[in-house]
Amino acid sequence: MKPEVLKPVFDVQEIRAQFPILKELVHGKPLVYFDNAATSQKPRRVIKAESAYYATINSNVHRGVHTLSTKATEAQEAARETIRRHINARHAHEVIFTSGTTGSLNLAAFSLGQLLLKQGDEVLISGMEHHANIVPWQMVCERHGAQLKVIPITDSGEWDLAQVPFSDKTRVLAVSHVSNTLGTINPVKELIAEAKKRGIITVLDGAQAIAHLDVDVQDLGCDLYAFSGHKAYGPTGTGVLYGREELLERMPPWQGGGEMIDTVTFEKTTYAKLPFKFEAGTPHIAGIIGLGEAIRWMEDYDKPAMAKHEHELLEHASNQLLDIDGLRIIGSAKEKVGVISFVIEGVHHYDLGTLLDQQGIAVRTGHHCTQPLMERFGVTGTTRASFACFNTMEEVDAMVAATKKAVKMLR
Ligand code: ALA
Repeated sequence: MKPEVLKPVFDVQEIRAQFPILKELVHGKPLVYFDNAATSQKPRRVIKAESAYYATINSNVHRGVHTLSTKATEAQEAARETIRRHINARHAHEVIFTSGTTGSLNLAAFSLGQLLLKQGDEVLISGMEHHANIVPWQMVCERHGAQLKVIPITDSGEWDLAQVPFSDKTRVLAVSHVSNTLGTINPVKELIAEAKKRGIITVLDGAQAIAHLDVDVQDLGCDLYAFSGHKAYGPTGTGVLYGREELLERMPPWQGGGEMIDTVTFEKTTYAKLPFKFEAGTPHIAGIIGLGEAIRWMEDYDKPAMAKHEHELLEHASNQLLDIDGLRIIGSAKEKVGVISFVIEGVHHYDLGTLLDQQGIAVRTGHHCTQPLMERFGVTGTTRASFACFNTMEEVDAMVAATKKAVKMLR
């Protein structure tokens, strides 16, 4: 387990002051940003770290003997060490940089497919997965003659643990830690333990978890853990695939190119050591440095305190919204992060999203890249508000008032 460190008291106004974008007006109204599950806003420290790379040390990593290249390499590798510490990986080389969760999951699927999957094997996912944790597995199943199996979802938006279709053909379990659409925090530790007993490789999609939960990959016991930088106060175009060293050593590279090799001849290529075997081409160096800064920023502000604040916003929003006649919240799991998806009788989510935007309020509408989940709940889409540590109760009240006004106009 990670060592305990004393953190400062959580002060939302002090946190807000660090996000320049929160001073913006949208349609003449103060911005209320409730689309953090799509991408979170960035604190000034992250923006500065990214631009400082371009302004002072812009250079390629692991390639030059010159000073700038050495400095850029050191800054990038410092970010890798920060992430290792944050997720409690054993080694920095277990942290692979990617373009985002989608990049991480594609790497995982294609490499594991090549390593493990044969005709008749099964890959197990759940009914609440984002398309990024469905489509890559479908593609590799098709390639290797394997089958996709799905854990059903209960009416409250949780895994139906009595109906997990494990079989002696299951080779991979790939599931989300937290649902992007429902906010459900899944009992991943329990399921991973069961999978491990059966010798199944476990992959977690942590895109919606990393900014809200204390993620400890050793405690979770997963083999692979994927997440994005941009949903955790970091830059877009950055992501991580954590992998257990022994497994990563066995996994073949997914993409070929510069930096991922040891030797190249026209007859044969041998690959570089971890993590470089999986990092072909020039990485998003500025973004990675920004991501390291975002993680250090979150660590300064104590994730459990942030999570508690977001949970209070969720409770408040849920209570207020349920006052609206005909409103149904999709996803009422006992354990949730600050994500609330809802539908309103006689109101199309797209119209509601547009009217909220007129009031300066940013929410996401539609299927949230989870079409099978929409089908499970018999809806074509929802309106989704997703909270971050910088959001306030007053903003929730503004959204509820604007929703009531919009409903009057649309019905
Ligand atoms: N996966 C992101 C979302 O849920 C884009 O909005």
